[in-house]
Amino acid sequence: MFTKVTSGEVQTITIQFEGETLVVRKGLNVAAALLEAGVKQFRETPVSGQARTPFCMMGVCFDCLLIIDGMHNQQSCMIEVAEGMKIERQLGMATIEFNASAEQGL
Ligand code: FES
Repeated sequence: MFTKVTSGEVQTITIQFEGETLVVRKGLNVAAALLEAGVKQFRETPVSGQARTPFCMMGVCFDCLLIIDGMHNQQSCMIEVAEGMKIERQLGMATIEFNASAEQGL
């Protein structure tokens, strides 16, 4: 849903990106907020290390993956910014915790 916002009605929130405090517009998704703040690289590919930036902005391409509040592989174009959110670039392979005993029903 889109709503028309006049300049006097813009609300902002504060997030952290790579340890830097950013003031962004409330209601944006994380990818849009970071792009608007001038962030160009969101992640790098695990194979070649090539820099990636959001492409589709609708949850299809996975080029917007970030670490959000400590959780890897978050599609930033599908998540709304929230006050105090801590965001980091996802560089290389994502860390995935695997509990072998839980997987094997032990
Ligand atoms: S920009 Fe394509 S999945 Fe997020």
